[in-house]
Amino acid sequence: MRVNCLNCNKVFDIPDERLPMGKKIAFPCPACKGTIELDLTSKSAINSEFRSKKKQNDRPTGQVLKKKILRNVKDLPPMPQTVLKAREIMANPKSDFKELANLFETDQAIAAKILKLANSPYYGYSGKVTSIQRASLVLGHKTLGELITMGGTASLLSKSLVGYGLDAGALWKHSLAVAFGSRIIAKKTEPSLSNDAFTSGLIHDSGKLILDSYIQERWELFEEFMADGEHTFLDAEKKVLELDHTEVASEVCKTWNIPKPLTVAIRYHHHPSRSNGSKLAYIVHVADAIAMMTGLGLGIDGTLYQMDDKAMEFLGIQEDDMNEIMGKVLEAAQNISEQ
Ligand SMILES: [Fe+2]
Ligand SMILES: [Fe+2]
Repeated sequence: MRVNCLNCNKVFDIPDERLPMGKKIAFPCPACKGTIELDLTSKSAINSEFRSKKKQNDRPTGQVLKKKILRNVKDLPPMPQTVLKAREIMANPKSDFKELANLFETDQAIAAKILKLANSPYYGYSGKVTSIQRASLVLGHKTLGELITMGGTASLLSKSLVGYGLDAGALWKHSLAVAFGSRIIAKKTEPSLSNDAFTSGLIHDSGKLILDSYIQERWELFEEFMADGEHTFLDAEKKVLELDHTEVASEVCKTWNIPKPLTVAIRYHHHPSRSNGSKLAYIVHVADAIAMMTGLGLGIDGTLYQMDDKAMEFLGIQEDDMNEIMGKVLEAAQNISEQ
């Protein structure tokens, strides 16, 4: 008998011979520990299955669901204005450091997070970076840019995503791994893309923040679709929710004012060959595969990752490079995520 926990929506198959038919029973849900109550007097048992199906049918599907999900993108916290302004100031060669210092005076929370990250063992200046100005002097302009982007997204990307099997902090670790991996690959293949590669890598999976609750609600449909072992989790997103996390992420990018080339890279990070030759999309794709190989922040969707077989050739990356990049990525993501 299929039993649906009305608390967490997970579905379990319990062999009929283990159920005391004709009785009412209650037991803790193996997933959420909430109580599942079953009325197994014959008619009610049929009713309870019917009820769970009805509940399923009440949920929007198709285009209605797609529109609902896209409306939800607007509910995501905006990329902090401080981060957007800081990136603008840093991109302007005429701007001086005072402008940046004034900006962070007004947002102490992000300034504190940036300093914490700057003092992580990865940069080798633990405890010595005491101000944004010092961070710029000691670590350099480019690294400060990275720290600002990380400081602005850390709390959002650190949330737990139950539908994806990610505990609190797991998506953050994965995002850091892809950001650093992308920057390293860009440096090897197209150095001018390094900064954009870092930002794209950091927010490439932001669509998951939106889809997570919909996956939890429809978990049984995901399990059903993936039962034959032939479909990836990405296929299941598209099949069940009408949208995958890359399409949602490109909408997130619009609300966050992320430049077009980065949005394209994020949209096609699982299928770079559809990006019309975006090198950035190939970079984030390979970095994503490397991040999966490190095992850091691995969720449900990491086990069946499909890497484009032309990607390494497209970027001119060899097998040996992959191992070297993986080592560097592990070091960076582990050291920084501890902050
Ligand atoms: Fe992804
Ligand atoms: Fe990813």
